[in-house]
Amino acid sequence: MTLALQRGEEPGIAAPRDDTRLATAGLYRPPAPSPQPRKLGLLRLLSTLKRNPLECWAQEHFEKPVVAGGLPLTNVLLVHEPNAIRHVLLDNAGNYQKDTIQRRVLSAGLGDGLLSAESERWRAQRRTVAPVFARKTIMDFAPAMLGAGDALTERWRRNGGAPVDVAAEMSRVTLDVLERTIFSDGFGRDAEDIRAAMSTYFNTIGKIDPLDLLGLPPSVPRLSHLRVRSTLRFFETAIDEIIATRRQRARATAGDDADDILTLLLAALDPETGERLSEAEVHSNILTFIAAGHETTANTITWSMFLLSQSPEWRRRVEAEAQREMRGPVAGMAERLVDTRAVIDEAIRLYPPIAAVSRVAMGEDELAGQPVKRGTLIVIAPYVLHRHQLYWRNPNAFDPSRFLGKAKNEIDRFVYIPFGAGIRTCIGSAFALQEATLILAGIAKNFDFQVAPGHAVWPLLRVTLRPAGGLPMTIRRKTADA
Ligand code: HEM
Repeated sequence: MTLALQRGEEPGIAAPRDDTRLATAGLYRPPAPSPQPRKLGLLRLLSTLKRNPLECWAQEHFEKPVVAGGLPLTNVLLVHEPNAIRHVLLDNAGNYQKDTIQRRVLSAGLGDGLLSAESERWRAQRRTVAPVFARKTIMDFAPAMLGAGDALTERWRRNGGAPVDVAAEMSRVTLDVLERTIFSDGFGRDAEDIRAAMSTYFNTIGKIDPLDLLGLPPSVPRLSHLRVRSTLRFFETAIDEIIATRRQRARATAGDDADDILTLLLAALDPETGERLSEAEVHSNILTFIAAGHETTANTITWSMFLLSQSPEWRRRVEAEAQREMRGPVAGMAERLVDTRAVIDEAIRLYPPIAAVSRVAMGEDELAGQPVKRGTLIVIAPYVLHRHQLYWRNPNAFDPSRFLGKAKNEIDRFVYIPFGAGIRTCIGSAFALQEATLILAGIAKNFDFQVAPGHAVWPLLRVTLRPAGGLPMTIRRKTADA
């Protein structure tokens, strides 16, 4: 499929449009940095990268399929063309490995879990872990997700209308979902200590340390890690103890144990070799699921609430749908919440929690007619692709209807990639989408919410894409709870 074809013939994909049309279309244009008129020079690039990498993108990135350049010592290609993306992430994925900075920043401390492993080690883990995230298993997690939503509702009902930081609250609720689905019998007697240690752990490992930028290997201790070393050790040991207890119990009950992610991981067998995951792999993957599934999903619900607060029409639609569908059976509930899901799909188009992924070319290749040298850094930014003038009508406008019915089916699978694409696509995408849909609908059903007066919302990229300074909102219980 050529680009020319896409522009002219692919439904749902449009030739460049002028955003002034937004006013006539009556669509809301949420806050986002205006692209730089020209690519930034090195010094400004470095200072902007430090402040907010989202502000580095230039106009041409949103208009051209492939743009070269950026860093002085590395060949960089910024690739936003669906066929080239398919080539890198799927067809010739063997030639493109995760680069070391991305691995260090996104998965530091996660050992060789799914997110950071490569080659055969990754392949064997992915085969073994895939059934844990199968559709049926995820549907069975719906009651646990609704339970976490109910706990949030209870908290907010008692709140009495004071402003709350919705970003922090969503972080709490998504952690609650992970706790209920990974360790269904909870953290035990040290629960509060473990939760506190977990939050320090992920706040610490998720930060870019100056040593990361210098390229020092993870074995060199980072100052930021040294400061909280005992907390990190406490958390890791606590996880290992929970795993060991569960393993013993599984032996005693001959596998007839809780249906949670930990049990499934311990029981999982590689369909090709019949082998189980090693102790270290179970440990790394538990940490990986918490790290990869926590802030990402929290940001998804946070941005969805913000966008709903700005759009009375969609607010009404989601609320009516939630009132109607959440009365019915839990089985299939998330699938019935189609408008809610469309809002979520649109929220992570405009504000993809993982705003960019990168790979390094292991050998020479060609992408969209451009030669690729060995060692070239390939950057694919869902943030840019999702707002690209070549592929979207009114790319900067909030319009969930693009994710309804026929329009949704016509979106190219390599033009909308909030969960990545190809062989390393997110294993938890169905889990995250079901969770976000159920939690958002529960909130819309029970509460009115508005951004706190005087607060200006602005997207900031810090490992994940979040509202700078959180999202203070006034939350009011609806007068007649359904
Ligand atoms: C809205 C929420 C989420 C978003 C936006 C998201 C996004 C992503 C993206 C973009 C990737 C691919 C990275 C790359 O190609 O370099 C990825 C991979 C991954 N995600 Fe997610 N994720 C989300 C939720 C989750 C959840 C809930 C879990 C687990 C419970 C999870 C576990 C993983 C794992 C294990 C990988 C690595 C897969 C592999 O390499 O085989 N994610 N995610």
